[in-house]
Amino acid sequence: MENIVEMISQKELADRVQELAGELNDDYEGRQVVLICLLKGAAMFMADLMRHITFDITTEYMEIASYSSNEPTGKIQLIKDIGSDIAGRDVIVIEDIIDTGGTLKFVDDHLTAKNPASVAYCVLLDNPVRRQDGCLNPDYTGFTIPNRYVFGYGLDHDGNLRNLPYVAALTV
Ligand code: IMP
Ligand code: MG
Repeated sequence: MENIVEMISQKELADRVQELAGELNDDYEGRQVVLICLLKGAAMFMADLMRHITFDITTEYMEIASYSSNEPTGKIQLIKDIGSDIAGRDVIVIEDIIDTGGTLKFVDDHLTAKNPASVAYCVLLDNPVRRQDGCLNPDYTGFTIPNRYVFGYGLDHDGNLRNLPYVAALTV
């Protein structure tokens, strides 16, 4: 196993996730919102985030596959769709990380076709270096990170290490 280095600590994550929920609470107060978690990476983030949300929510889970062995394949696939109708609803998509932006573009096209009233994107991590033209930028961002492969706090390293309670990178 390669050596791993902590990039964002548990305390930094907890503080920022609470702050992000505060931003959402300010913007969505009094509304009924569908939170859509992008599996598998955003499961831990959404679980922590929604503990601090004070407006009314329902939850949905959607699975997209976009990576194989830590490298972009360029192919994005819907593995599991949401299970309820979002027509006319306010939606917030919860994602672990935006890199090229391809995944969120795919998700946006997919959800927009279901005619929601609004769709916003809340991502824990933004790695902006490789962002492609024409991709959307998140409405809410936890941390902007350098162009490194990261894992832990829900994100995987070749399928493993999602259970680390902090965000880590490989030592270079
Ligand atoms: P994008 O489509 O290039 O924006 O990549 C976003 C998706 O790729 C996310 O949903 C993650 O599943 C995955 N991903 C991108 N960068 C990383 C990383 O550094 N660690 C773990 N997963 C990543
Ligand atoms: Mg993903």
